Amino acid sequence: MAMTGVLRPGHAQVRVLELEKAVTFYRDVLGLVETGRDDQGRVYFKCWDERDHNSYILRESDQAGLDFFGFKVLDEATLDQLEKDLNEYGIKTRRLPAGDLLETGERVRFTLPSGHDIELYATKTAVGNGIPAINPGPWCADSERGIAPVRLDHTLLYGPNIAEVKKIFVDVLGFYLVERVLGEDGDSEAAIWLSCSHKVHDIAIAEYPEPGKLHHCSFLMESWERVLRAGDIMSMNEVPVDIGPTRHGVTRGCTIYAWDPSGNRFETFMGGYQPYPDYEPLTWTFDNFGQGLDYPQRKLHETFLTVVS
Ligand SMILES: [Fe+2]
Repeated sequence: MAMTGVLRPGHAQVRVLELEKAVTFYRDVLGLVETGRDDQGRVYFKCWDERDHNSYILRESDQAGLDFFGFKVLDEATLDQLEKDLNEYGIKTRRLPAGDLLETGERVRFTLPSGHDIELYATKTAVGNGIPAINPGPWCADSERGIAPVRLDHTLLYGPNIAEVKKIFVDVLGFYLVERVLGEDGDSEAAIWLSCSHKVHDIAIAEYPEPGKLHHCSFLMESWERVLRAGDIMSMNEVPVDIGPTRHGVTRGCTIYAWDPSGNRFETFMGGYQPYPDYEPLTWTFDNFGQGLDYPQRKLHETFLTVVS
């Protein structure tokens, strides 16, 4: 098997201000599939084409933001090895028991120097995507309800010390740098896009003075037409839109950014290219980040730099 180590983003737990209002939004407007509720009051969702039980979990709180972001690793032996590697690197980890998160095995949690809690886990119950495994059709009823992204694709986090964060992902967890934006000094990195796969990014991190901030969780759409349709659905439902529809210079991804009812930004995204670990990382200079952010408009949207949850 060519894919080892960290496989993919697996779940995000996001804080929302009014739970049922958020549930209605994520189910009926974004079009996620509700898969469970637990005794802590958390509500579990997945995207229609994901096969594991959950990928996006809501927890009611008086402050929006991200509790943690989790990555699925190949198997339990890989989880043990990566925990050992993190510890040897000097990062403290702790184990959360199987079942603490519904239908999810033991998780290894650690805090990044940017203030974000990251988890690794190896098992989550496969519930399928609603399409038979034998003679499968291309889509199902859940793929036509609301915006209906196919998967949780990546996250962008804002926080301090991203040079240290990069070392952890690259030197310990096996990610590689795909693209970066240089700081004003022309040397330091202001933002980095990292991949553990063939995707243009699995996580991105931007330097920001306040720790632990969520910029957005991103949901993958199957086509540009589906991104435009997402924009229609946002307008029909009076969803506050931040940027787009447009195309990023960074990653070449096509995008709309919008906010959920609690002020957590999310992205409906498609496209980009397929990098390999041996590719030279692409660099955007500080003075040209407007083009990196919004290629057609070449505009450095103020909200992108300053509004986080
Ligand atoms: Fe994104």
